Amino acid sequence: MTPVLIKTIHEARERCDELRRAGRLGFVPTMGALHRGHGALIDQARQECAGVAVSIFVNPTQFDRKEDYEHYSRNLVADLEFCAERGVDLVFAPDAAEMYPSPLKTFVEVTDLSERLCGHFRPGHFRGVATVVAKLFQIVQPDVAYFGEKDAQQLAIVRRMTADLNFPVEITAVTTVREADGLALSSRNERLGQEERQIAPRLFVALEAARQAVEAGKSVNEAKQAGLATLRGIRQMNVEYFEVVDGEMQPVTKIEGPVRILVAAWLGGTRLIDNVLTNAAARA
Ligand code: PAF
Repeated sequence: MTPVLIKTIHEARERCDELRRAGRLGFVPTMGALHRGHGALIDQARQECAGVAVSIFVNPTQFDRKEDYEHYSRNLVADLEFCAERGVDLVFAPDAAEMYPSPLKTFVEVTDLSERLCGHFRPGHFRGVATVVAKLFQIVQPDVAYFGEKDAQQLAIVRRMTADLNFPVEITAVTTVREADGLALSSRNERLGQEERQIAPRLFVALEAARQAVEAGKSVNEAKQAGLATLRGIRQMNVEYFEVVDGEMQPVTKIEGPVRILVAAWLGGTRLIDNVLTNAAARA
């Protein structure tokens, strides 16, 4: 069944109230260009909730580069079909004027967590994300919201914001979906040229090399070197960071429990991120 398409905040509130009356309301916030990664979030919401709402909004305030915002892939017709196939009840797809009728003077900023890693290279990005997610939570008022582990820092920030501001929303993390060659699904993959697409899975290879090093008892430094060594000499690739962090996204110097290894790199004109979690049992 085709989901109800809603463009206004007023109507979204009404329809979400109706859905919530029928049971648990699951929410998947997206910027559209839906792929199997979003599909996994929607499928889990569909399994766990009576109602499923998806938002599609390319949020201007989280883009640190104008051309990235302008080139972000948009295809509402295909996205609606994607949602219909997965039994989504409601799609909220406002335009920018509906979400931001006048320039914002109020922002949500998860300090510290937002300044590291991607935040360091994309100033203002996580403030834009936290603010729009807070707005969307106020509009949809879901019982549970689903976020992909691929954006691990975003997930940590949303979790912290939800706790700090007492949003009555449960945050569920969903495992990263990968192509057969290991490349994490992302709307940005579409922008890769043929040669870049062939190189892109090397990011996962690098993460896996570092993960294996950690699990074999190597130091943080050795693990990073093991990962980075697999990327050395790739002319098209420019690594922004390769870090080993704890659950709070704080870089660690010593491995004392499960850690997450994250990478961000430019491949030509496309910025890709990915991460893996180490196995706690391997070091126990
Ligand atoms: O992950 C995304 O697609 C976006 O950052 C989100 C959470 C929908 C906020 O605009």
